[in-house]
Amino acid sequence: MSRIAGARLTRRTFVAAGVGAGVSLALGPLAHAASPPAPLITRPIPSTGERLPVIGLGTNAYGVTDPAEYAARKEVLEQMPGLGGTVIDTAYGYGDSELVIGRALKELGNRGKFFLATKTPIRGDVSGGASLVEESFTRLQVETLDLMQIHNLHGLDTFMPVLLEMKAAKRVRYLGMSTSTDEQYPAFLEALGRYPVDFLQVDYSVGNRSAAERILPFAQEKGIAVLVNMPLGGRRGPMFGQVRGREVPEWAREADIRSWAQFFLKYVVSHPAVTCAIPGTTKASNLADNQGAGRGRLPDAAMRKRMEEFWDAV
Ligand SMILES: NC(=O)c1ccc[n+]([C@@H]2O[C@H](COP(=O)([O-])OP(=O)(O)OC[C@H]3O[C@@H](n4cnc5c(N)ncnc54)[C@H](OP(=O)(O)O)[C@@H]3O)[C@@H](O)[C@H]2O)c1
Repeated sequence: MSRIAGARLTRRTFVAAGVGAGVSLALGPLAHAASPPAPLITRPIPSTGERLPVIGLGTNAYGVTDPAEYAARKEVLEQMPGLGGTVIDTAYGYGDSELVIGRALKELGNRGKFFLATKTPIRGDVSGGASLVEESFTRLQVETLDLMQIHNLHGLDTFMPVLLEMKAAKRVRYLGMSTSTDEQYPAFLEALGRYPVDFLQVDYSVGNRSAAERILPFAQEKGIAVLVNMPLGGRRGPMFGQVRGREVPEWAREADIRSWAQFFLKYVVSHPAVTCAIPGTTKASNLADNQGAGRGRLPDAAMRKRMEEFWDAV
């Protein structure tokens, strides 16, 4: 084991992330002894200029109670800062995900290393307003949150005034709205036009490119940061299955792509409107693979086109 930036990293996760330099002695001959670490890619939040690493973490599968499942998720949260990631996306509506993250970050003592984003309730009676939003602070065991998002527009006009007050009181640093279905895009754009938000969150991947038609250009035009959900095609999505048994194309190496996850993620974060993709994972090995997509070269416009053509032919 090596200790990097306070995180325990195994040889496997470290090499998978493409982080090699300065640790060759600690890792021994299997490490890329001479290669310097590929630079971490960051993007600015347009409303402030604060920079975020382009690969974060989605946690809609973190609502677990089994001790072994909890330990696996805690390991992800322990290793993430050392690999360069900071953005965690959770939600009131992801079962016990907020509770699990709050407990793990408390035990690890590393809350300060993360940009913590959650969301207002996605269903049910919203008349509780502020008290419902307060529950997220309690469950996450925090006094302040980096980003609070309206989840799929549920309770928009009830929650937004509450969130605007919380931002004014500096309890929440940024505000946002999320969606993940094409059918909701027209209402989503209408809502974004009515409220001042710093972030929007939308589904986008090489297998699902509709957000690039109107939502991503809208974000660029209005100066709104973009979090991308389901960048790997979704937890129950078909994207990995579609490439099972196939090698990543040789030409993708020109963008430092070494796995299918990195192919999918580098496609997403090479869109100029995207601030950060939030791939969901419950495994440290997949975390390292995904964080590896946040370093090195990105596909240019010609390679992005080639990726789309490749995908459409799969
Ligand atoms: N409306 C909304 O606001 C909304 C909707 C959907 C999602 N979200 C957010 O977006 C996040 C991401 O979406 P998602 O988790 O549904 O889908 P996703 O990130 O596209 O895909 C997650 C799936 O990919 C697998 N995976 C992750 N890394 C991998 C790797 N390197 N190699 C192979 N498989 C890998 C995961 O399995 P393992 O766990 O085994 O790694 C999981 O099955 C969510 O967690 C949530 O935070 C928001």
